[in-house]
Amino acid sequence: MSKSASGARPHGARGGGKRAAPAGTKRLQSAESMRRLARAAREAGGTVGFVPTMGALHEGHFALIRRARSQNDFVVVSIFVNPLQFGPGEDFEHYPRDLARDLDRARELEVDAVFIPENQEMYPPGFTTRIGVGEIGLRLCGASRPGHFDGVCTVVMKLLGIVQPQRIYLGQKDAQQIVVLQRMIDDLSVDAKIVACPTVREADGLAMSSRNAYLTPEERAQAPQLYRVLRAAQRAILIERLRDAKALIERMRAQLTEGTRFEVEYIALVDPETLEERPVLSGRTLIAVAARLGRTRLIDNLLINVPGGRMAERMALKGE
Ligand code: PAJ
Repeated sequence: MSKSASGARPHGARGGGKRAAPAGTKRLQSAESMRRLARAAREAGGTVGFVPTMGALHEGHFALIRRARSQNDFVVVSIFVNPLQFGPGEDFEHYPRDLARDLDRARELEVDAVFIPENQEMYPPGFTTRIGVGEIGLRLCGASRPGHFDGVCTVVMKLLGIVQPQRIYLGQKDAQQIVVLQRMIDDLSVDAKIVACPTVREADGLAMSSRNAYLTPEERAQAPQLYRVLRAAQRAILIERLRDAKALIERMRAQLTEGTRFEVEYIALVDPETLEERPVLSGRTLIAVAARLGRTRLIDNLLINVPGGRMAERMALKGE
C-alpha cells in the first residue's frame, strides 16, 4: 500500500501501514531515544500521530488516542506534568498521577510509544528559552493564569521537536489551548497539523477532566450545572434569538451560581479564532466558562454558529 507521509489516511491505518517498531508499547524516558524511535517510524514511511498529556488518563484522553490510532501508523503519547504551566499556589504538587494505570491503558489502546520524561530531561540546568504567545494567551484562562500558555507552548514546542509528528491531537475541552497552539505552529512554521477532537463528557454532561477527582460528592453533584448553563445559552441564542452578549452573560452567571457553590472566573462569548469578545453575537462563536467549585477549577465551552446575517446584527445593535 503506497501512501504519502503527510497525506490524509483512511481509518484503520494501523492494519495496512508500515510499522517501524515491533508490536507492543514502548516506554521511553530520554528525549534522544524518543526522537530516534519516532524518526525510525517516519523513515519507514509511516505517519506519526502525537497525543500530549499530563497523565491521569481518562475517556477524554482515550478518545484522542483512538483517533490518533485510527489515522496514523505510529502513535506517541507523552505523559508529563509540566511545571512551567502551573502558577504559584496552583495544583502542580497535587496533580493526580497514576503512571501504572496510564501505561496499562496505553497498552490496551495499542499506543506504540509512551514518552515519560523526568523534569531534568525537559528542563536541564541552564534551560532558559521560553515561548511568549502574547495577547492571545492573556485572554480567558490567561487572565487568571499568567504565564500558563507560555508554559504550555514551551513544553509542546519541545515535545514537537522531539517527536516531530505529522499530526498532534488536542481536545476541544481546552479550546483556548488549541487556538494558542495553532497560533504558535503557524507563527513558528512548525510542520504539524492539529487535529481537534470533541469534548468527551460524563453521562450527566460534566466534561471529563483529571481535576474532577478533586470534587467532593456535593461538588460533583453541582458540577454538571456548568454544561447545563452552556446548553441553555445555546438555546437562548438559537431559539430565543438572543444576540446581546452582555445580557446573556448575566443570565448565565445567575444560572450557574444560584443554588450552587460555583464562583465564576469568566463567562465569555468570543470569536473562536482570535478569542476577541463578540458584544453582538454573530457567526461562529465560542461560549467559554471557567468557574471554581471549592478548590477545583472547572472549564467548559461550546462552539456554536449564530444564525443571521448583517441585517440581524444591525437590528440587534439598534435594539430593534
Ligand atoms: P491534559 O489536561 O492531560 O490534556 C491532554 C489533552 O487531552 C488535551 O488536548 C486536552 O484538551 C484533552 N482533553 C482533556 N479532557 C478532555 C475531554 N473531556 N474531552 C476531550 N479531550 C480532552 O492539556 C494538557 O494536558 C497540557 O496542557 C498539555 C497539552 C499536555 C501540555 O502540557
